[in-house]
Amino acid sequence: MLDRRDLLRLVPASSLAWLAPSISVPLAARTLSEVAPLLAGPPVVQHLRPEGFAVSCAVGQLATGWIEWGQAPEALDQRAVAARAGLVQASDYALVIPVSCGDRGGPGRRIFYRVVAQPLQYETAYKLHRGEAVAGPTQSLTLPDPAAPHARVAVINDTHEHGKTVDALIERIEEVQPDVLVWNGDTCVSAFDAPADVPRVLLTPRWATCRSLLFVPGNHDVRGASARELSRCLAAGPDASLPYNVARRHGPLALLTLDTGEDKPDGHPVFAGTAAYEPYRLRQAAWLREALQRPDIASAPFKVVFCHIPLQGLPGENDGLSLEGFAAWSGDGAQAWMPVLREAGVALVVSGHMHAWRVDEPTDGRPMQVVGGGPDLHDATLIVLDGDPQTLRVTIQDLSGRELAQRQLTRG
Ligand SMILES: [Fe+2]
Repeated sequence: MLDRRDLLRLVPASSLAWLAPSISVPLAARTLSEVAPLLAGPPVVQHLRPEGFAVSCAVGQLATGWIEWGQAPEALDQRAVAARAGLVQASDYALVIPVSCGDRGGPGRRIFYRVVAQPLQYETAYKLHRGEAVAGPTQSLTLPDPAAPHARVAVINDTHEHGKTVDALIERIEEVQPDVLVWNGDTCVSAFDAPADVPRVLLTPRWATCRSLLFVPGNHDVRGASARELSRCLAAGPDASLPYNVARRHGPLALLTLDTGEDKPDGHPVFAGTAAYEPYRLRQAAWLREALQRPDIASAPFKVVFCHIPLQGLPGENDGLSLEGFAAWSGDGAQAWMPVLREAGVALVVSGHMHAWRVDEPTDGRPMQVVGGGPDLHDATLIVLDGDPQTLRVTIQDLSGRELAQRQLTRG
């Protein structure tokens, strides 16, 4: 169970600011200083596609929840409830609610929604107590359209819980207004040691209420006794056995995510038999080959892959294939995936992990590789991709919005 006082203490003030505009169902008389809000973070939209989307939201006490949605802000006449095999989902941690739009969905449709949570207490199996439902503010989003002439993606990485950097990135993302935000790994300081860390880190920044968050795990995100709790906070992708492999079309861009996993061989003694990333990378290779052949992905003018650890290194850098040190680039990932990326003409790989930005120009049929910066205010970056049917413009920006590097890829 979340320690509510801890949660409040740790959630940055900027992340709670979203609570202010409208709480349409009155809360019982209590103040934020007394008790954590039932809705303990903003909605985090994931898996946005023409047919629907999913929303995660941190909660401060055991609750069920639902999404009220519709095609106008004053007509949220649809309701999506998370249930598994008939039993409505409840959590004292995070609500994860998929929304299927049916014939109200479709490419480019605008959808309005809000999260509602209702406290739940079990006295016995037949004596359940319900508190007053609390609704968050109404939000809006646009379902993606493969035929849209333009798409903008912003990429952040290696935030490592640096609060000031996260706050600055929230501001930059608000300024840039991307259609999709990719969080390209290493979200936690070093490991997820306590269960409450997971929703606090993943579900308190307010940057994906009106756009899709594509979460890509980093090597630190799979460490610690509570790393397995990520699956309770984030919506599962289309294949539950490959939860972080997603291929989505947004306008001229096909966006694909790969999970590089740990930065040392599975047999390294520090993992004590808990690492199985080598067979997982091979399974992802098979998925990648199929995903790149899907008509909606194959037909995209530009295909972009996101993975935390780079797939190419600088001369002399550690490829992570030996027990010495740790990977600066994933030799195992490169062996499994690079031939597939080359064959499919993937234009760009975007990575992080190195805490220093750089651009590796495309050579020998390999895609361009762009690596984002580090967690400190002075080395953090926002990578912005602007795709139209003929060009993909890539810019690496610092936290003031200054361009550090820019490249333009043209349709080959
Ligand atoms: Fe990393």
